[in-house]
Amino acid sequence: MTMTMTAEMEQLKAAHRATWAAGDYAAVADAFVLDVGATAVAHAAIEPGTAVLDVAAGSGNAAIPAALAGARVTGLDLVPDLLAAGAERARRAGVEIDWVEGDAEALPFPGERFDTVLSVLGVQFAPRHELTASELVRVTRPGGTIVLACWTPSGFIGQLFKTMSPHLPKPPAGASAPPLWGDKDHVRALLAGTGVEACVRDAHGALPRRIPGRVRRLHGRPLRPGAQGARPARRSGPLGGAASRARRAVRARERERRGLPRPLGVPAHAGTQAELRMRSRELVIDAAHVGLPEIAHGGYVAGILTAALGVDSSRVRLRRPVPSGRLLRVERPDAGGVELHDGADLLADGVEADVLLHVPDAVDPGEALAAARRFPGMAHHPFPGCLCCGPEHPRGLRVFPGPVSGRGIVAAHWVPPGRHAADGGALPPELVCAALDCPQLWALMVHAPATTSDRVVTTVLETRLERPVTAGEPHVVIGWPIGRDGRRWLAGAAIFGPDGALCAAGRQTAAVVGGWGVPLGRDHWETPPVAAA
Ligand SMILES: C[S@@+](CC[C@H](N)C(=O)[O-])C[C@H]1O[C@@H](n2cnc3c(N)ncnc32)[C@H](O)[C@@H]1O
Repeated sequence: MTMTMTAEMEQLKAAHRATWAAGDYAAVADAFVLDVGATAVAHAAIEPGTAVLDVAAGSGNAAIPAALAGARVTGLDLVPDLLAAGAERARRAGVEIDWVEGDAEALPFPGERFDTVLSVLGVQFAPRHELTASELVRVTRPGGTIVLACWTPSGFIGQLFKTMSPHLPKPPAGASAPPLWGDKDHVRALLAGTGVEACVRDAHGALPRRIPGRVRRLHGRPLRPGAQGARPARRSGPLGGAASRARRAVRARERERRGLPRPLGVPAHAGTQAELRMRSRELVIDAAHVGLPEIAHGGYVAGILTAALGVDSSRVRLRRPVPSGRLLRVERPDAGGVELHDGADLLADGVEADVLLHVPDAVDPGEALAAARRFPGMAHHPFPGCLCCGPEHPRGLRVFPGPVSGRGIVAAHWVPPGRHAADGGALPPELVCAALDCPQLWALMVHAPATTSDRVVTTVLETRLERPVTAGEPHVVIGWPIGRDGRRWLAGAAIFGPDGALCAAGRQTAAVVGGWGVPLGRDHWETPPVAAA
């Protein structure tokens, strides 16, 4: 489709180019909307090898996770500086993306070129909505998928537009306001008659808890009275409930699509340490449940908080090392969240969250057995007393992941020891989460460059529990590196049951820290994770 651009429209595009190139949008995206890109990619359920276009890609917020999922990705944006920032981030993440300067209203690609077209908080800024919509449809192959995430008129950004618009120059004829793309009826009208089946839903997000100082200074005062810039309003009440229901519906659809059974659900059932202690809201983590000496195992802590939430899919942030053998407190500040405290210190917090990730194929039990025999931790283990993977832990889970020939993953053949079983033989969620944690770190340790001196600590654990993990039965555990993004390494892990069905999957973010932490590069494995006293 061609259309003559008016001089006014040309001026508007030039102004857009200058606006998006001003300041450091890439840093803003990293701080505030990183999750939106990953969530859009998860919704697109991208298969490795498929052709993906990220329109108005900016610094690659959606393009990079799509490439990490194995797609062949093209990122298009109006602003060359942002494409350069994206290329640098892609290089650091270890993925290749084709970066193209262009306009969403006149995509420089032949028709039906892409399997999946994404745009995260992007196409809505192109002024001619009908033209943009028809371009998105034109370049998507029949049967393909278009996933868009847009700011809504009623949300914070939509309201900001509303406040500012009387003070801005009048837009040229034919231009529409960006938040309209967040209006369901508007989107349905744009796609009417194109043959695209529109599925439009609301999503709610919260600002990160710690608003970077830079943004606070920009406003000169806390973002809302009394907030001190650190704790934005929590999800609670009907809004929190609606967001939670919306997430459950998405997960239910995904399960249906993949032919999975109903979720296991994790009521904090009898037998879990979480439930017993949650009644008193106090908790002592036993010395047996450690990763490093006297420090509770991160996956175990994530599982305790997941059980306390009573959900099957969670995101837990580990803020400080959690000591074992001390009286800790579990708090439910609202229906949507849970926190772990040691006195006045917040150690960890968790929320119910979508955890949609691309799980690589499992290996067969024979290969898993062979891989476990290659477990590098038998020769050099940074924490041999670890609950999950420590060969010297007398009552450990004994998950020993080793490299799999010809594939960039680690795997273990694993029979969960009977002593860990709760009612009905199933492992409690805290032990399933623990079993997912270490294979992720070993995947990074095995696949990171041998010479890297990076040391990491796990900061975020996302977990999805699908089916029971049963003590005494043979399981396969795999771990895979997802990539590196600045000072964070990402990895995933999954547990498959005796019938090959997925029981649980997770992803972790491990932050590079100075001086201590798990040494990733093989050349540094023999140095202990904590400096000797
Ligand atoms: C809010 S940013 C989103 C960037 C990225 N998708 C993300 O999630 O961080 C909006 C992006 O739209 C791009 N953009 C605005 N108008 C555009 C147009 N007409 N064609 C292509 N990109 C455009 C801007 O350059 C900017 O990168």
